[in-house]
Amino acid sequence: ERPDALPRDLEGRHVVVSAGGTRENLDPVRYLGNRSSGRQGYALARVAAQRGARVTLVAGHTADLATPAGVDLVTAGSAAAMETAVRESAAGADAVVMAAAVADFRPVDLATDKIKRGGDEPAPLRLVQNPDILAGLVRDTPRPGQVIVGFAAETGDAEGDVLHHGRAKLTRKGCDLLVVNAVGEGKAFETPDNAGWLLARDGGEEELPMGSKALLASRIWDAVTPRLA
Ligand code: CTP
Ligand code: CA
Repeated sequence: ERPDALPRDLEGRHVVVSAGGTRENLDPVRYLGNRSSGRQGYALARVAAQRGARVTLVAGHTADLATPAGVDLVTAGSAAAMETAVRESAAGADAVVMAAAVADFRPVDLATDKIKRGGDEPAPLRLVQNPDILAGLVRDTPRPGQVIVGFAAETGDAEGDVLHHGRAKLTRKGCDLLVVNAVGEGKAFETPDNAGWLLARDGGEEELPMGSKALLASRIWDAVTPRLA
């Protein structure tokens, strides 16, 4: 879609988008990370700005992406840093979209010196849960009427298919909208295109056909705008 063909329906609104992956440090040179490129979050930020919003983009680690024009960038490398940044910027926002891939766990200990190979069996890596930023936003939403959007990358398994897991996650998280992507070989991560479902807390379900991340971003904002207070 050409930017000048987009509606200006986010004029006067402030939206927060998180993007990219967090890194949880092990020692001064090593971390636990993930494959998120940040492209979907950056596309959401760019499209929101083109539709007239004031946009705060909270970025974890991403591919080498240009900051979209007119967007305020806040960097947050770890889950803890992202929680602080998202909470601060979400305080007065009309909508928050958590497109970031936040690490579920971090190492219990952060070694101040580089961990050495040693001679014996490696020491087991002890992990602790990170805060669930999305669940925290839903729990203590700073303003009633704020629209909160989550993302879920799912694979089917013995318990059920991608949609089954998406519906369960929407219920568990309690957010207004959940974007569900099927992941696996050549899907969602490190690719230009995305497909999936958009599930709403009010029961609405919409299939998101394969298309560019910019197009998917437009569909997501199309679902957010009528729900804004
Ligand atoms: N999320 C978050 N904080 C975390 C983990 C996830 O805010 N510590 C957000 C993500 O940004 C995403 C949504 O929660 O919008 C769903 O993430 P996902 O990893 O699918 O959910 P989990 O509850 O961690 O479930 P899973 O066990 O499938 O990883
Ligand atoms: Ca997770």
